[in-house]
Amino acid sequence: MPVALRPRCASTLCSVKHSLVDGFGRVHRDLRISVTDRCNFRCSYCMPAEGLEWVSRDDLLTFEEIERVARLLVERHGVESIRLTGGEPTVRANLPELVGMLSALPVDLALTTNGSTLRLLAERLADAGLRRVNVSLDSLRPGRFAELTLRDELPKVLGGIDAAIEVGFDPVKVNVVVMRGVNDDEIVDFARFGRERGVVVRFIEFMPLDADGAWSAGAVVSQEEIVATIGAVFPLGAVERTSAPATRFRYTDGGGEVGVVASVTRKFCDSCDRIRLTADGQFRNCLFAVEEVDLKALLRSGADDDDLSAVFEGTVVAKWAGHGIGHVDFIRPDRSMSQIGG
Ligand code: 5AD
Ligand code: SF4
Repeated sequence: MPVALRPRCASTLCSVKHSLVDGFGRVHRDLRISVTDRCNFRCSYCMPAEGLEWVSRDDLLTFEEIERVARLLVERHGVESIRLTGGEPTVRANLPELVGMLSALPVDLALTTNGSTLRLLAERLADAGLRRVNVSLDSLRPGRFAELTLRDELPKVLGGIDAAIEVGFDPVKVNVVVMRGVNDDEIVDFARFGRERGVVVRFIEFMPLDADGAWSAGAVVSQEEIVATIGAVFPLGAVERTSAPATRFRYTDGGGEVGVVASVTRKFCDSCDRIRLTADGQFRNCLFAVEEVDLKALLRSGADDDDLSAVFEGTVVAKWAGHGIGHVDFIRPDRSMSQIGG
């Protein structure tokens, strides 16, 4: 559906917010910034053992470039939350410096990490202004964890989660990608882990974004099954849905809450408010987008703020209704999650 771009104010002093509204009326307020495509883990569904072909350092956006894009999106386009992702964002040198630059903006700033470096970095990140983290963890069993990530570092991740709690990040969330025959026997263990440690566990349906074709429809464990499995042991009640991708459930005994990100069986594209910036400076309107805009080239060729605004608005206007996982015509993006940013 073609939608005319609203004219931008000629004045650079204009303080009117130009919300990023797409052709379906969705307002975009959440920005995901990938700061690196590299990772110290090799989760089998994400990266081959030898790693991927990394973006060269010169092609990574600098902190100044990231800050410029973020500032414009916040100050002019009404973005209210920013999540730093990767790859593994903490392998980017001097990450706390970037956190300091972004936390100066009026946004809710969060980080998604594999947790392995949090014991070392949590305090510095908190000092720089970070308030909350999501830690990705797919198994609580040391042997299985090592098989899944090709790194024998479960204790480090658990220590990282403890460090995140100790420095006061709130909430601390733990993301678990559930895969049939791989870790679906740990659903209750993870629920118990969340209740005991006071962290919010969020189970994620396995999506077809893997590097090596490990995904199949049969490998997806549905929200329905996940909730039934937990509820049989710890009874659950529902919590209302927000634009956050997770459907939330509260333990009826007051033991906190648990979430499910049902990207496959109950896609939440209708309420999507996310836009994405990749580590190499590509602007995307969807995780599953097959097209992206080269913002880095613009930034490095002297584009002014109005030029950038035009790209943001044009990209959002062109956003589709949603991904088509499960449809025969679904096209898998040619980049894996680590290259796009989760
Ligand atoms: N399906 C679902 N989640 C995935 N992640 C990475 N690849 C996939 C996939 N194919 C998760 C990571 C992390 C978050 C950024 O995305 O495990 O929790
Ligand atoms: Fe690294 Fe995350 Fe990919 Fe695992 S899923 S290899 S932790 S980027």
